Amino acid sequence: MSQKKIFLVFVAISTVSLLLHHGGHFSWTMEAFHLGCPSLRTHLSSSLKPKHTNVAFLKTHKTASTTMQNLLFRFAERNNLTVALPVQACGHQFCYPRTFNAHLVHPHTLPPNVVTSHMRFNRAEMQRLMPNDTIYVTILREPGSMFESLFSYYNQYCQSFKRVPNGSLEAFLDEPWRYYRPDEKDSMYARNTLTFDLGGDKDRPAADTTAYARAFVAETERVFSLVMIAEYFDESLVLLRHLLSWDLEDVLYVKLNMRMSGSKHSLSPGLPFKIRAWNALDARLYDHFNASLWRQLTALGPACVAREVRLLRRAQERLVRGCFGGRLPQLRSAAQIKNKELRPWQPSAKVDIVGYDLPTNTNATWPGSLAHELCLKLIMPEVQYTRVLLRSQSLRYRRSYPLRSPQPQPQQPVRSVLPRHQQVGIQQIHREALPPGLGPASSPTATSRPAGTQSRATRVGLRPSGPQRQTP
Ligand SMILES: *[C@@H]1O[C@H](CO)[C@@H](O)[C@H](O)[C@H]1NC(C)=O
Ligand SMILES: *[C@@H]1O[C@H](CO)[C@@H](O)[C@H](O)[C@H]1NC(C)=O
Ligand SMILES: *[C@@H]1O[C@H](CO)[C@@H](O)[C@H](O)[C@H]1NC(C)=O
Ligand SMILES: *[C@@H]1O[C@H](CO)[C@@H](O)[C@H](O)[C@H]1NC(C)=O
Ligand SMILES: *[C@@H]1O[C@H](CO)[C@@H](O)[C@H](O)[C@H]1NC(C)=O
Repeated sequence: MSQKKIFLVFVAISTVSLLLHHGGHFSWTMEAFHLGCPSLRTHLSSSLKPKHTNVAFLKTHKTASTTMQNLLFRFAERNNLTVALPVQACGHQFCYPRTFNAHLVHPHTLPPNVVTSHMRFNRAEMQRLMPNDTIYVTILREPGSMFESLFSYYNQYCQSFKRVPNGSLEAFLDEPWRYYRPDEKDSMYARNTLTFDLGGDKDRPAADTTAYARAFVAETERVFSLVMIAEYFDESLVLLRHLLSWDLEDVLYVKLNMRMSGSKHSLSPGLPFKIRAWNALDARLYDHFNASLWRQLTALGPACVAREVRLLRRAQERLVRGCFGGRLPQLRSAAQIKNKELRPWQPSAKVDIVGYDLPTNTNATWPGSLAHELCLKLIMPEVQYTRVLLRSQSLRYRRSYPLRSPQPQPQQPVRSVLPRHQQVGIQQIHREALPPGLGPASSPTATSRPAGTQSRATRVGLRPSGPQRQTP
């Protein structure tokens, strides 16, 4: 081989390797461009359609929904969208298990594009809150593994589980009515949790189960354009991406809120059957929507779905390696995670919820603070991310506040139509629960205050004093 040829081969190899390492985004975009599968060609190519940005994700329990929430939080931040977040008195959930009500939404997060925090679904209130072109999405998980997960995660919270001798799932399922009280606190973790989260009746009498389940499935199907299935998470994301006309880059994720493998138990034979019988409504929901997921995947074309899943996983690995200094991240227990912002919440001493830590040298591979920020958000647990997002949205809200007219705020269509006693209730929640600096400075209390009484402190976002405090 001549020297010239060797040189050309060398150049070719270098170029390819350069593209692979630094042109990830470029090659990725090219691949994404060719993603439109044959069956989709009849529609407008999804890359040409604007991304759909009004999304309501019903976050169900123990279903990989925290991973989905993180993905939606990041999408919202990247696209400057508003995420409806709970008032602080509700914590990081919309006062679950209370049924959702629009007055549980923090006024600084109105009007929203996205909502994804835990709630018990309420269709009418959601429609009052969200824009009318909102796409509704949720996720279900196979009842057997889901119940095992609930039983272990909420073992110390839920009385129905706590009563069981030796923390034995088998003992519970042998005689569930011995331990379960339908009306006590946290009972929704012990039976038909998915049905409950979706707003349904978890304790339907057995005689009525079939008819109720059929009607409930139909209602859920009417509201939710996509019901994802945790067992087929990546395939579900492919459907989501097509539904919302998003890029593959918009659906990259790192799995969050998982148990350490030592906290997981495999089910002994016979248990899955007992779990399905005890959670009959959830089992029906699951079977129906798993079947409909696969019908949708078949319609999209199995080859197309497989290719997209492959690209998704490849891009994900690239992103994750970029964040973790070239390696795949190690799962760590909370105690091992140095950065407090990255420690996941622990339900009890008996369950280890694992998370990640960022290597301190992420700059080596992804220079610039933006990349560091991206990596941090990718693995930030739910509670911390909710707090961070509320802070940034409150700042944005206050920054735009002085520009608004002193008229009643159009930003709170929901709040302003509430009966007066509810408004007062909310003011009290705010006053008691908000730390200094996050007070109800520009909250809808402004609408009930006579014009011109707004103090300077209120305008600049300090904790208000004076007239507001005396509001009945
Ligand atoms: C984000 O939203 C704010 C206020 O709604 C606006 O002023 C700003 O220009 C937006 N930024 C981008 C990048 O869209
Ligand atoms: C949705 O709301 C917009 C503006 O509020 C309105 O113009 C539109 O007709 C509504 N669409 C539907 C389907 O109700
Ligand atoms: C619980 O454990 C004790 C001792 O380990 C055993 O004697 C008892 O039978 C167990 N109870 C159940 C319901 O499994
Ligand atoms: C979901 O549905 C598919 C297609 O019908 C089936 O093959 C699969 O076993 C189902 N998964 C579960 C966990 O039931
Ligand atoms: C990483 O980059 C940020 C911003 O560019 C810088 O503040 C920080 O000190 C860097 N960290 C390391 C370990 O180099």
